Amino acid sequence: MIVVGVDGSRAGLEAVGWAAAEAALRGVPLRVVHAIYRWAVETGQGRYAGVARWMREGAETVLAAGVDRARREQPGLTVEAKILPGDPRGALIREAEHAELLVVGNHGLSAVRGLLVGSVAYGVAGHAPCDVVVVRETPAASAGEIVVGVDDSSRTARVLEFAFAEADLRGADLRVVHVWNRYAVVGGFQVGAGDFFEDEKSEARQLEETLVRWSERYPSVSVIEEIVQGHPVDALREAARGADLLVVGSRGRGELAALVLGSVSHAMLHHAPGPLAVIRTPA
Ligand SMILES: Nc1ncnc2c1ncn2[C@@H]1O[C@H](COP(=O)(O)OP(=O)(O)O)[C@@H](O)[C@H]1O
Ligand SMILES: [Mg+2]
Repeated sequence: MIVVGVDGSRAGLEAVGWAAAEAALRGVPLRVVHAIYRWAVETGQGRYAGVARWMREGAETVLAAGVDRARREQPGLTVEAKILPGDPRGALIREAEHAELLVVGNHGLSAVRGLLVGSVAYGVAGHAPCDVVVVRETPAASAGEIVVGVDDSSRTARVLEFAFAEADLRGADLRVVHVWNRYAVVGGFQVGAGDFFEDEKSEARQLEETLVRWSERYPSVSVIEEIVQGHPVDALREAARGADLLVVGSRGRGELAALVLGSVSHAMLHHAPGPLAVIRTPA
């Protein structure tokens, strides 16, 4: 099951459109959810019963718009709706326990000017118990390409798994982008002494070896390898322009253990040019 959060905003409906297409491709049901105050869900009698009922009706209207959109765009799809009690971030994370994917819009109703990603969207990516897709301006026409950013950590396997499966499902090409920085600074020390071209060749060789294994599992996916020098955020943003989806891990190499979300995934939440998949890559 795929879970998608709606809040009455246009971005939420865009998220439904994306999630419905994905559910149809995967052949799984879609659950459209909307979180409201717990007391509004639980209050049936007494002084505030009227207000609570009014809030539940509002929630039903928000859900109905989401369900409509999903049914209109994916007629064969099984779609259900559910009101969740509690604050949206926590409620979505709890609901995601039963989901294979959680989808939200990059913005919501309270769109604060200047913020590139809303607090709910930001709060679920990397924290939900499943992979999360944050939908920002789906391209009008499919580019037929998915972009995945990989580093050389052991966490890359889950990220590649998602990206290859997704490309396979959509019949899309997969652009695998590995950004490396020769002068990367780890813990305050400069690493990467040695021959410049040798370093680059060995990075390329490692990536190629990894990808050969994945291509054996997904023979119909055409892979474009790209090794870019520079900063991962700029390079990934550039590579993902116009792509159907950008896939990154929630954490990469060299992130502080305390961070749930790595610096690159954090930045991509703000700056990805289109839909972004944040794959859970726990330590
Ligand atoms: N109450 C809610 N119930 C379910 N999903 C929500 C709720 N609020 C937000 N979302 C989801 O999170 C996305 C981003 O909204 P949010 O982070 O709240 O942005 P903003 O701060 O702009 O309101 C929405 O498009 C929607 O998918
Ligand atoms: Mg909001």
